[in-house]
Amino acid sequence: MISFKNIYSSTALLLKILGTIFGITLFSLFILIPSSFYYFKRKFKSQKNKNSSTSPQVGIFHPYCNAGGGGERVLWVALQALQKKYPKAEFYVYTGDIEATPTDILEKVRKNFNVDVDKNVKFIYLTKRKWIEGDRYPVFTLLGQALGSLYLGLEALSKLNPDIFIDTTGFTFTLPLFKYLGGSKTGCYVHYPTITKDMLKRVSNRQTIYNNKAIIARNPALTMGKLIYYHVFAWVYSLAGQCSDSTLVNSTFTQEHLNTLWNIPLHLVYPPCETDHLKKLPRGKDRPQKIRIMSLSQFRPEKDHPLQLQSMYELREMVQSELFDNITLVLCGGCRNDGDSRLVKDLMDFSKHLSLENNVEFKVNLSYDEIIKEFKRSYVGIHTMLDEHFGISVVEQMAAGLIMVAHRSGGPLLDIIETSEGSRLGFLAQSPQEFAFIIKYILELSDEEVNEIRERARASVDRFSTKKFQEEFIRAIEPIFK
Ligand SMILES: *[C@@H]1O[C@H](CO)[C@@H](O)[C@H](O)[C@H]1NC(C)=O
Ligand SMILES: *[C@@H]1O[C@H](CO)[C@@H](O)[C@H](O)[C@H]1NC(C)=O
Ligand SMILES: *[C@@H]1O[C@H](CO)[C@@H](O)[C@H](O)[C@H]1NC(C)=O
Ligand SMILES: *[C@@H]1O[C@H](CO)[C@@H](O)[C@H](O)[C@H]1NC(C)=O
Repeated sequence: MISFKNIYSSTALLLKILGTIFGITLFSLFILIPSSFYYFKRKFKSQKNKNSSTSPQVGIFHPYCNAGGGGERVLWVALQALQKKYPKAEFYVYTGDIEATPTDILEKVRKNFNVDVDKNVKFIYLTKRKWIEGDRYPVFTLLGQALGSLYLGLEALSKLNPDIFIDTTGFTFTLPLFKYLGGSKTGCYVHYPTITKDMLKRVSNRQTIYNNKAIIARNPALTMGKLIYYHVFAWVYSLAGQCSDSTLVNSTFTQEHLNTLWNIPLHLVYPPCETDHLKKLPRGKDRPQKIRIMSLSQFRPEKDHPLQLQSMYELREMVQSELFDNITLVLCGGCRNDGDSRLVKDLMDFSKHLSLENNVEFKVNLSYDEIIKEFKRSYVGIHTMLDEHFGISVVEQMAAGLIMVAHRSGGPLLDIIETSEGSRLGFLAQSPQEFAFIIKYILELSDEEVNEIRERARASVDRFSTKKFQEEFIRAIEPIFK
């Protein structure tokens, strides 16, 4: 039995705890935070005065600058453009790759990306990068990474307080830090929004997915808590985003999401995509006798290769069997691990199940030279992923002169494939029937019509070229260099 005294003492205890929390909050709110803000601000200001040079110092935040991925390519090509445009400025890259020397890094950039960055870029090495790694925070990952990036940003700021600060990795919370504590002008290039409306929707619809565990989806109270957490986070994220003086986004997808969240002007600057060598591949003017339909994407579930096989199955019903015997679907793609290899095995079984084995070829882990060969031999390109953020392979296939049929969603719909008559660059489809119907339609077009679409598509990929990227990047970032 619970006695009155017990209830009384536990209530008193609770009140005491609440009182203490309240006191600590008040103390931090009105004394600790303002005084440390003041302290750091003075410190960074005096540091800036000490280090002041006549040329502007530009700090670029890219903690994984030696990773060699697509985001890094954007960094180096952008830096190259900035160095050319502002020869007097000093450029610094904040990086956590402490084991790599500047020579190593620049050498790798030249080898992997074929980009020549001017040697006078300097590196500011950060030791606290482990705090931004996602798997450090099994729960509250977004918040953990945000706080981690603040901590890492503070280390960066204390090592160099630049006149201009540019974030190229999406650590938006570093922007207010450099703007208000450092007094820098700020800019950022955003590849992907940290939080999206879809994430909120999935939580409120209680769907289970990689970032919404089953235990949360099943439990209404936890769902409520997570929703509040996401909404508060989205609000703070938008406040941080508004500290950006110049904001660049890499795609219409990101632009649409940030438009509603950040509510500031956004410049759409597509990342650089090397297509000149593909545009030079020779193309015959006539339809070849053997029709090869090329699919180029990693073997991963979200790429939806089964949809391609089903489309072939439908196509067989629609065309004469003599023609169908001359049609081959060529699935080219890489496997990263055993899971991917199992997927390939399943796809092979599925193609046998549909009796398509004579019309499907699998090409796993092709070298780049072999992919170029496939580009030359293929006539049509197919892409089936739902909501692909962009689709570099779609751009490459168009540059190589293939007639593309891509999924009617994501980047192919928003950014890449114009389908209005008279300016058609390719085709969009959704269901297996529709994919099959469009492939049949393409095979019935006259050579002249095909060549028109092909030439327009090949010309259109210049929108995504390195030259275009550098021009647009400079134009969008210019205001903070004034
Ligand atoms: C800034 O000045 C401090 C001390 O004056 C020096 O240790 C530091 O290396 C300088 N930083 C840069 C990036 O020049
Ligand atoms: C933008 O960045 C995201 C994340 O890296 C990527 O998935 C997407 O393909 C990029 N968009 C473009 C247009 O390259
Ligand atoms: C299929 O290809 C062969 C040559 O390989 C050709 O003779 C034949 O006409 C083609 N059939 C159709 C229907 O295009
Ligand atoms: C492709 O490469 C991956 C990773 O390097 C490997 O696991 C896989 O076995 C390879 N598959 C084939 C068919 O070569």
